[in-house]
Amino acid sequence: MAVEGVSWVPRLTRVLERVQHTADTVSLKLDLSLNHQPGQFVQVSVPGVGEIPLSVASFPGDRLMITFRRVGRVTAALYGLGVGDSIGVRGPFGRGFPLEGGDVLLVAGGMGLPPIRSALGSILRERDRFGTVQLLYGARRPSLLLYREEYDAWRRGDVVVSLIVDEAEDGWRGRVGVVTELFDELEVGSDATVLVCGPEIMMKFVGRGLLKMGFDPKRIYMSMERHMKCGVGLCGHCNIGPYYVCRDGPVFDFETLRNIPESGVI
Ligand SMILES: Cc1cc2nc3c(=O)[nH]c(=O)nc-3n(C[C@H](O)[C@H](O)[C@H](O)COP(=O)(O)OP(=O)(O)OC[C@H]3O[C@@H](n4cnc5c(N)ncnc54)[C@H](O)[C@@H]3O)c2cc1C
Ligand code: FES
Repeated sequence: MAVEGVSWVPRLTRVLERVQHTADTVSLKLDLSLNHQPGQFVQVSVPGVGEIPLSVASFPGDRLMITFRRVGRVTAALYGLGVGDSIGVRGPFGRGFPLEGGDVLLVAGGMGLPPIRSALGSILRERDRFGTVQLLYGARRPSLLLYREEYDAWRRGDVVVSLIVDEAEDGWRGRVGVVTELFDELEVGSDATVLVCGPEIMMKFVGRGLLKMGFDPKRIYMSMERHMKCGVGLCGHCNIGPYYVCRDGPVFDFETLRNIPESGVI
């Protein structure tokens, strides 16, 4: 299987598999393998409709997988695709999560799980390089938790998986609340590297809570979302303070973000 590097022009690729996660969220597995860094994104285009940024959800070197919620024009067009249909892909772009070893805490909210899944894949492949690895994941309801069929494999890979939902449904025996309430189950030390992806309001409270517990803001990495056009630092559509999210991010350390009022996470 050929593994390709960065592409500045769209490559046409076929949908190999479509997985329905929830009523409005699917994954598409594509006939293209990327050598990306977890946390990087691709620009995905539907001919005649438009182009949007989506995180790479697959593991580095594997067939590219994207997971998205149908919210508007392009995601609706992508949602309507089936096996054999074609889409365009540029990238991978941006800076991803550093994965240097030691303890790692992964924190995801809702649709923030795809890039965190990619990071988990990297960690599991080189599990010996890492210490305690823990995932805290929160969703609005149990039926909205993504990749549910994979949690057992992650646990077998010695990852502590802690889940919480805003609202219980029939059969849910787990915790109910917001993701920061899972801090009382933390098994990693405050010297852990922290990777965070989710709504800005969630990342704000995660950052605050971790600082209170003595975590280093330079080791807390958050993935930011802004509207994008070019994806490569040329059009100026995606700035946060002096930075372009597409080129300098989407992953930034919390020390940098907490000095930028419009980052939305302070
Ligand atoms: C780096 C990066 C990675 C992303 N990864 C994922 C992913 O893995 N899965 C996923 O589902 N989504 C992801 N997104 C968000 C995704 O790009 C938007 O949902 C998408 O652009 C919506 O396009 P649309 O044409 O379907 O919606 P539109 O028709 O453009 O808009 C529909 C609605 O969504 C809002 N909206 C559009 N774009 C964004 C945005 N970027 N942020 C917040 N609100 C927006 C609009 O204001 C409008 O209310 C990511 C965004 C970025 C910047
Ligand atoms: S999307 Fe054009 S500069 Fe970032």
